[in-house]
Formats: sequence, C-alpha cells, structure tokens
Amino acid sequence: MLPGRGMDEIMSKILPLQDAGPGDNSLTAFDVEKVRADFPILAREVYGKPLVFLDNGASAQKPRAVIDCVREVYESYYANVHRGAHYLSQRSTDAFEEARVTVAKFLNAKTEDEVIFTSNVTEAINLVAATWGRKFLGEGDEVIITEMEHHANIVPWQLLREEKGIVLKIAPIRDNGEFVLEDFKACLNPRTKLVAITECSNVLGSRVPIKEVTRLSHDQGALVLVDGAQGIVHQPVDVQDLDCDFYAFTGHKLYGPSGIGALYGKWDVLNTMPPYQGGGDMIERVTFEKTTFKEPPYRFEAGTPPIVQAIGLGAAVNYVADLGMENISAHEHGILAYANERLKAIEGFKVVGDAPDKAAIISFLVEGLHPFDVATVLDRQGVAVRVGQHCAEPLMDRLGIEGTVRASFGLYNTREDVDALAAAIEKAKELLA
Ligand code: ALA
Repeated sequence: MLPGRGMDEIMSKILPLQDAGPGDNSLTAFDVEKVRADFPILAREVYGKPLVFLDNGASAQKPRAVIDCVREVYESYYANVHRGAHYLSQRSTDAFEEARVTVAKFLNAKTEDEVIFTSNVTEAINLVAATWGRKFLGEGDEVIITEMEHHANIVPWQLLREEKGIVLKIAPIRDNGEFVLEDFKACLNPRTKLVAITECSNVLGSRVPIKEVTRLSHDQGALVLVDGAQGIVHQPVDVQDLDCDFYAFTGHKLYGPSGIGALYGKWDVLNTMPPYQGGGDMIERVTFEKTTFKEPPYRFEAGTPPIVQAIGLGAAVNYVADLGMENISAHEHGILAYANERLKAIEGFKVVGDAPDKAAIISFLVEGLHPFDVATVLDRQGVAVRVGQHCAEPLMDRLGIEGTVRASFGLYNTREDVDALAAAIEKAKELLA
C-alpha cells in the first residue's frame, strides 16, 4: 500500500497543534503521572512536539527499572550462564533462573520448568509446530486458527501443512471483529488436534474467551496454544485457570527488552516433545554415536540464551506485577472508553473492529483518506501509530480493506494522549482534504 499523495506538499502546510486540554486521568487509583515518570522516553519531543506514543502493540517503551536492570547486569555481573565455575557465571545463572521463576509466577504456571525462554512469540509458535506438531500431527489432522490471527500464528501451520498434510481450519469472526464461541465450536470435531488461537487481536483488539475455547477443545481431545502477545499486556493471565496447553508471549510488548519471550507448556506435554534445536546446554550426554537430552525446559534452549534480555524481562514482569495487572487493565479500559467516545465523534472516523469485549487497541480509517497519509500527518504531530496490514493480511482480506491506522494504548497513556490523537486526526482531515 502506497501513500496517496505528495507528503512534502502536505507537510509544508502543517501548523503546530493546539495544546490538549487537561483531561481526567483519575478513573482509577492508578497514578498514571507517576507511572509516566518511570519511562524516560516519554519526556522527549519529536518534531518539536511532545511524544504521544500509541504504537504499544508493535513494541512498548521501557521503564527505568528495566533499563537500570539491563545496565546493572552488563556493568556488574555479566557472564555466560549454566557453564562457568566462576562467581560471575554463578551470579548470572542465578539471575537468569530467577527471571524464569518470576515469569512462571506471573503466569501462575505450576512450576518454572514449564517456562521456556524463546526470542519472541514467533519463535515459540514455530517451536511448537516444529516439535509437537511434527511428532503428533499427520495427514488429515486438523488445526484450527481464526480469521484474525497474526502471520506468526498462520505461516508455521501452513509450513506444517505442506510437510505433513494437516488441514488448517479457519474459525470465522463477525464483521465487527467479534469472536463467536458458537461459530468456533462448529469448527471442532474429533479430528481437531490443535487449536492455535490469539488471546487478543493485534489489529482489532477483540478478545477471545480462552477458558471456554480450551474447555470445548479439550472435550474433543485437542490441545490449545494461545498467542498471548497482545493479551498478556492488557489483563492478568492465569494459565492454570485457562487450562491451555501452551501460552506464548513476548517481552518487548510487556515493557521488557526485545529478543526475549516465553513459551509456557504443561510439563507433561513438553516432556513428550523432541528437541527444537540441537546444540550446547540442551543435552545430557553427547557421543558421536548418540546424544541424550535434558528435560524441559532446557531441552528446548540450545546455545547461549538471551541472558540479559531474560533478566530484563524478569524486571519488566516485576514492574507490571507491582503496578497490578488489574489496575493496568482498569486504567486502559478507562482510556479505551474515552477514546471511543472522543474519536467516534470525529466526522468521517470509522473504527475497524468494535467487538463488545476488546482491549485498548483502536484500528481506524478516515473517510476519503489513505491510511498512510493519515499516519504520516499524525507522526508530524508527535503521535506515533502503526499503519498497514499489521502482519494480518488475511484479516484485511476478510474485512475487504487494504489496511488501517492503529492506535494501541499502554499503561502510560492518558486522556491527553487521546485528545492529541483526535486533534491530529482533525489536522490530517484539514491537510489531506
Ligand atoms: N505484532 C506487532 C504488531 O501488531 C509487531 O504491531
């Protein structure tokens, strides 16, 4: 998708934004101004305007607790893990394994041995496809995904379809982006072996009732893999309560470093799975004739892991856990409600995805304007959003659109941010008309 008109001409007409009004952030006990002070980057300006960061769905900013943690590891105890006999290696190993325990507690996993560090959700899903999928899926076995999956939860299953002849079934969503349990249920049958499903659409914000999906899937003997990339940042997660078999999330959207994520798997399931990659640290004993492997999670973590990133992820998890996921969720719901009211009042504003149960993600179009042009004008007003297909091309096809502008809110966003977004959309209308 290419921008619709000459941006130089449009940019030359841009005037400074009016100051946003004071707004009201006192929807909950959550002190958003105090939270904002934890994120140094939020104090900066872009193009001479205050940064309004609404691209959290792509990657969130980092609190000082994470930045300081990462710096501290490099400055005072960095070394490889699980290998050295020396003090620094022991210290790094302890911090790395403590991060695993932190993640396990955050997910309410039964034990930290159910947490595998991966580089991101994409790797986690590919891991499941490559190990569990290759071992347990055969010709004609069915895997269900939905119409609103990210490419990361589509392509690995297509690759497996080519290799093993599995059948990929696509559970429909409604035109408003709503996931309907009854429609999903109609896709299930005794041939269903896996349901691989997003917890929250990265484009529409629509949420999936994972607990019910899991119960229905288990009734048919199918396992459930949850793509929690967008889900875990907006609400508390309890994998034992959800009863899902796998849950994947990534650190960089949860205010942690990039290059680190985690795959939760029920230990009894993980223990049936062959290794993902071969190499150091995942083995018990290697001879030229034969190699035996460690138990999960180490069986799936070949080579030197992302040590500092994992420790940084632990710091990020502690940060959000200290704020309280319920408080974050309540704060974001207040912002979402305000944004819905404020943005829908703009003439020509069209929300894409209006499911009754949704997280603080608003995809939209502005009548008559190309989304890339809108996003560019927004950017020059200091408002950072994502534009395009959002790695969900089949969803765009389903909705019959080329792409959207997406504002994805995080724990530090305010009503003033919504006001700035609304003003920037009005500016885009004025300039692009
Ligand atoms: N998956 C990320 C997003 O939705 C990158 O923007």
